[in-house]
Amino acid sequence: MSYQLPRGTHDVLPSEVTTWQWLERTFADLAHKYGFEEIRTPMFEDTALFERSSGETSDVVTKEMYTFQDRGDRSLTLKPEGTAPVLRAYLQHKLGFPNQVTKLWYLTPFFRYERPQKGRYRQAHQLGLELIGAKGMTADAEVIEITTRFYQEIGIKDVVVLVNSIGGPATRLAYRDAILETMAGYISSIEPENRERIMKNPLRLVDSKDPAVIDLLQTAPKISDFLDAESRARFNELQELLNRAGIKFRHAPEIVRGLDYYSDTVFEVHSEFLGAQGALCGGGRYNGLMKELGGPETPSVGVGIGMERAQIVLESMGLMRPAPQPDAYVAAATPDAWTSAEDLVRELRRAGLAAQSSLDRVALKNQFKEADRIGARFAIVIGTDELAAGQVSLRDLASGEQRLVARSEVLGILR
Ligand code: HAM
Repeated sequence: MSYQLPRGTHDVLPSEVTTWQWLERTFADLAHKYGFEEIRTPMFEDTALFERSSGETSDVVTKEMYTFQDRGDRSLTLKPEGTAPVLRAYLQHKLGFPNQVTKLWYLTPFFRYERPQKGRYRQAHQLGLELIGAKGMTADAEVIEITTRFYQEIGIKDVVVLVNSIGGPATRLAYRDAILETMAGYISSIEPENRERIMKNPLRLVDSKDPAVIDLLQTAPKISDFLDAESRARFNELQELLNRAGIKFRHAPEIVRGLDYYSDTVFEVHSEFLGAQGALCGGGRYNGLMKELGGPETPSVGVGIGMERAQIVLESMGLMRPAPQPDAYVAAATPDAWTSAEDLVRELRRAGLAAQSSLDRVALKNQFKEADRIGARFAIVIGTDELAAGQVSLRDLASGEQRLVARSEVLGILR
């Protein structure tokens, strides 16, 4: 039998991995400029951490977690998102105590049992930022600024930045009732299992992709109608800050986010290349989450940026990064040249260049084929004559131009 990938997973192949490394480097550099430090948390955590943080009515908790008992009978869950583990680590190691603003970034796989489709996987990867301990809207604006700069720097220019405020708990309670009223007919028509979930958290309906729901929502009130004066002022301030930072955005009342921990600011970045269903990234403010996890009240804001979604857009735009070319392929034209060829490869590598030769000492014709296949910039050929003269022949594989040079000069020329 032949083994296949588990459904909903993907390999990052050598032809793609250079792009992934470049995305990570670009993000790490950017995060560093804004004062973020990297954190790496384990692949699994106590199940309760996610039940507590994502919200009991969220899709993540109700149907998407990869939860298992380990041999010690603990309930563990492969992380379905990156925020809760970072807060757990922050609390456990007292990272920002007392009351320091703490800026953390990460690259992490995450796991959700979703119906796989383009841009939706069961194991996917996120670049994330968590800006912990800042209550001012400057923090929200900063997270949105880094996110949009990231897309700019990787060449995804035509993004749509959607921003909304979902206020505090009182706003959501009032909005909940309004939605329940507007959508009563629809809600009574859905199957009991989903109905119960929607009744507990009708916000689930607001970013529904179901055309019938979208249609009904046209006549429903918007969450912005329910914001209290403070939330409204904060949202206005955020919009001013974004304008001042030169970030083009749109107020999008339909953005409410799928995880329950948000308050006030929520945002997503979309791209036409992903179609309607996909956000490039999503984030927002989560002032109540730290307390929910047993810590002190710590206003915070963050974002999760989907790596696979960025890749889809980069591919559609022809912006994937090619693998770096090896500098040289060293070929032995005659059997007496093998050791000299292998010594030269070692020398070049020690000097920081990427060089290869044939491990199986194949015929010259096949060595040239190999040099072409790996895309080497130069082929360096050594045979009996070159050995005797202390030279090598150096062939530029792009132009085909070939010349004899002293062996001692090769390194200088390649550099
Ligand atoms: P999220 O919206 O669930 O937020 O995920 C963030 C991003 O991850 C999405 O916008 C999308 O690009 C990508 N994504 C989500 N699910 C999948 C999937 N199944 N396959 C591929 N890509 C996916 C969070 O996870 C929050 N922790 C973000 C955050 C950080 N909020 C505050 N801090």
